Amino acid sequence: MKTKLIENSKSIRYEEAGKFEETRFEKIHNVLVLNSKEGSARVAKEISELIINKQAKNQQCILGLATGSSPIKVYEELVRMHKEEGLSFVNVVTFNLDEYYPMTKGNIQSYYYFMHEHLFNHVDILPENIHIPDGTVSIDELHQYCIDYEKAIEEKGGIDLQLLGIGRTGHIGFNEPGSHFNSETRSIILDYITKVDAAPSFLGIDNVPKKAITMGIRTVRKAKRIILMAWGQNKASIIKKTIEGDISSKVPATYLQHHNNTTFILDVEAASDLTRINTPWLVGPCVWDEKLSSKAIIWLCQKTGKSILKLIDEDYNDNGMSSLLADKGSSYDLNIKMFNKVQHTITGWPGGKPNADDTSRPERANPAIKRVLIFSPHPDDDVISMGGTFDRLVEQGHEVHIAYQTSGNIAVSNHEALKFAEVTKGMRCNNDNGLMKKIVDDIKSKKENAIDSLDVRKLKGIIRQCESLAATRYLGVSDDNVHFLNLPFYETGSIKKNPLGEGDVKIMCAIIEEIKPHQIYAAGDLADPHGTHRVSLDALFEALKILKPKSFMNDCWLWLYRGAWQEWDINEIDMAVPMSPDQVLKKRKAIFFHQSQKDGVMFQGNDIREFWMRAEDRNNKTAKKYKELGLADYAAMEAFVRWHY
Ligand code: F6R
Repeated sequence: MKTKLIENSKSIRYEEAGKFEETRFEKIHNVLVLNSKEGSARVAKEISELIINKQAKNQQCILGLATGSSPIKVYEELVRMHKEEGLSFVNVVTFNLDEYYPMTKGNIQSYYYFMHEHLFNHVDILPENIHIPDGTVSIDELHQYCIDYEKAIEEKGGIDLQLLGIGRTGHIGFNEPGSHFNSETRSIILDYITKVDAAPSFLGIDNVPKKAITMGIRTVRKAKRIILMAWGQNKASIIKKTIEGDISSKVPATYLQHHNNTTFILDVEAASDLTRINTPWLVGPCVWDEKLSSKAIIWLCQKTGKSILKLIDEDYNDNGMSSLLADKGSSYDLNIKMFNKVQHTITGWPGGKPNADDTSRPERANPAIKRVLIFSPHPDDDVISMGGTFDRLVEQGHEVHIAYQTSGNIAVSNHEALKFAEVTKGMRCNNDNGLMKKIVDDIKSKKENAIDSLDVRKLKGIIRQCESLAATRYLGVSDDNVHFLNLPFYETGSIKKNPLGEGDVKIMCAIIEEIKPHQIYAAGDLADPHGTHRVSLDALFEALKILKPKSFMNDCWLWLYRGAWQEWDINEIDMAVPMSPDQVLKKRKAIFFHQSQKDGVMFQGNDIREFWMRAEDRNNKTAKKYKELGLADYAAMEAFVRWHY
């Protein structure tokens, strides 16, 4: 590419989209940043400059604000600027986009609570300058209330800068699909996907309010400047539709294509489906390194429906890849090279094949017996994501250890915990000092959205430990090799976790030092910046940084599997471990031991299938993709990326 994809400058400069070769598929100006921290700092900078400029002119600064995970770091940075740099909010007037309805202000799920917690309680904004739609207004007064909210914005001269996140439905504010271009502040029914996304914070979809009050599309469009932020892989698809698709009420954010001062700030994952990022050869000249060539050839196979060895020059030329041909020679050479590359990722010996030539195998032959440490963020990711490979490693004689990073206690439902508590209570143990009775009472008297008592959390953690031990015993691992780390960042009792701390990293270092593994397996979910998988991975990366100078680490390879929700792209895979139909069934059984996670688990997401079904589907699909590329036809495959730390 001719221009740098990621801009380094500190500020954000609006430019019309689609004017340059690289952005010709795009209809909204967007800026790519390395991560949400850097992007948020830039957004906060623009906001602070606006506030200061307005202050110099003795004017009020009217901000439209959003809640959700996207703007959290912007608010953190603004609070820092207030505390350390003296940024004052005395001239700031805010209008929040939305609020659940009905919703009390004291509810920790309310946007009222969110805004005070993250921003207003920590800066010098005047309380009378804060406007958040009121979730307590009676239904009879709601219509007039919305008209008045709209008027209040008008009376302040309109919004100077509107901050937005985007929902996976394409909503901005709570303007769900079907919202009209000219809609104003009103009440709205939340879309199913929006409720699914909100379900974890409400501890279940049934607790998510069905309605909300939201500013309308027209209200947002009238803002003089709009900044929309999106972080993480799960926003990639809606970002592509919004920036490159046609304007449609089905994706309300596409209405922003009509606004001529809107900028999207995207991290690399959120931007990853944009044509210029995903398939840059369709946009302009490319530097054809190994990685890009592989990605393009796999894409070409999928596009043409051909296997690798059947691609011809014409396929390359017709699909924006003629420069690859020109750079690297003929399609024949490219095809053979690519075929061998993919072929060499396949191995039934994930711990390396003893006494075999390992020059083109994913793992080393020596040492023949390896110490293997499998990290599992929750107490079931090991079998869900790599149950087949886990089984092979044990069968092939390696010393396999499993370390469950978190207790996973919040994912055990109350009725599941109650069942175990009542069973134990039924045994009439006299020496538990009434603990089981207390636990039963705690569960039965628990208020909606309240956090579990410590005893209940402990019971839930033990339930998951026992399920894990049942699964690891089934796969032939001794209990001594099963480690429950209970990392402290997770132990909040709620969906919101603590940031990663020294205590977490220390525990991770200790287990790695104790085992001195030749292979580490870990969940490589790089996308979700707040999720348990990502924090668990960060804990590992931090530990590896500290341990790297130790000599045993020279022999330690890191393999990343993907969590329950996704699989690596074929071009990224370094090791693909095939499974026979029998091994698929064995893996299924190992997953079954995690009974508390069966039948409608608490944090289901929008895929209602049970974990074993998802795992099988995903492993079958990987095998099918290999077959379609012209490689051997297996029942299922698990995939790994080697991570060079
Ligand atoms: C929040 C709001 C919503 C969110 C959107 C993205 O006030 O209006 O449109 O911006 O749902 O949410 P997050 O940032 O949590 O992904």
